[in-house]
Amino acid sequence: MIRFEKVGLKYGNEPEVLRDLTFTISPGSFHFLTGPSGAGKTSLLRLLLLSLKPSRGKITMFGEAVSRLNQDRLLQLRRHIGIVFQEFRLLDHLTTFENVALPLRVLGQSEDEYTENVRELLDWVGLGNRMDAHPPVLSGGEKQRAAIARAVISRPNILLADEPTGNVDPDLSLRLVHLFAELNKMGTTIIIATHELPLLDRFDYPRMQLAEGRLTIAR
Ligand SMILES: Nc1ncnc2c1ncn2[C@@H]1O[C@H](COP(=O)(O)OP(=O)(O)O)[C@@H](O)[C@H]1O
Ligand SMILES: [Mg+2]
Repeated sequence: MIRFEKVGLKYGNEPEVLRDLTFTISPGSFHFLTGPSGAGKTSLLRLLLLSLKPSRGKITMFGEAVSRLNQDRLLQLRRHIGIVFQEFRLLDHLTTFENVALPLRVLGQSEDEYTENVRELLDWVGLGNRMDAHPPVLSGGEKQRAAIARAVISRPNILLADEPTGNVDPDLSLRLVHLFAELNKMGTTIIIATHELPLLDRFDYPRMQLAEGRLTIAR
């Protein structure tokens, strides 16, 4: 469960970009995070990713009060959270296979241990025949599927995505959201930031709406 209580966030001495955010997200749920550009979607995702601490208020994740955790514990918890970015952030000098395997290598797994898993997941996202290709030769949709595979290879409890469909065409956007839906059916908690209203309208998931620093959840 993710719990925010009166959470505020500001950068330096600027006014707060997020104000009094109070909400609960249940395990295994799926939410869209919406709001115009500059509304604070990315900032909220960074709080959820534990890469930013709130200026005030309380965030509880994985049963722990986030503000009390030291850096080591934050990094440990961070491993249970996957993230997908609009601009993919794949490493161009590695193959698709190597990009997806990277989180497991960082966790200390050997090639023998992870090869089967990585192959299976790449098959599942439809990149079974692109494993040896480097990101620069992949299409936008292929890159994003590789990025999603990399985000979920270590089986995170929570998957965050920041405008993941911003760089792919509408047809592919729809397929990507279906992919997120499949992951959600397997139990992953999903939060996707997007301001693409036509896409949102095709799904029934609740929406977390940010406007002027405040959040409302429409179910
Ligand atoms: N690192 C930062 N330093 C200062 N201001 C920032 C920083 N990141 C974002 N902001 C500001 O916070 C507000 C919300 O930005 P952001 O979270 O990126 O919104 P969104 O993702 O919805 O477009 C904006 O006014 C933006 O300029
Ligand atoms: Mg953003």
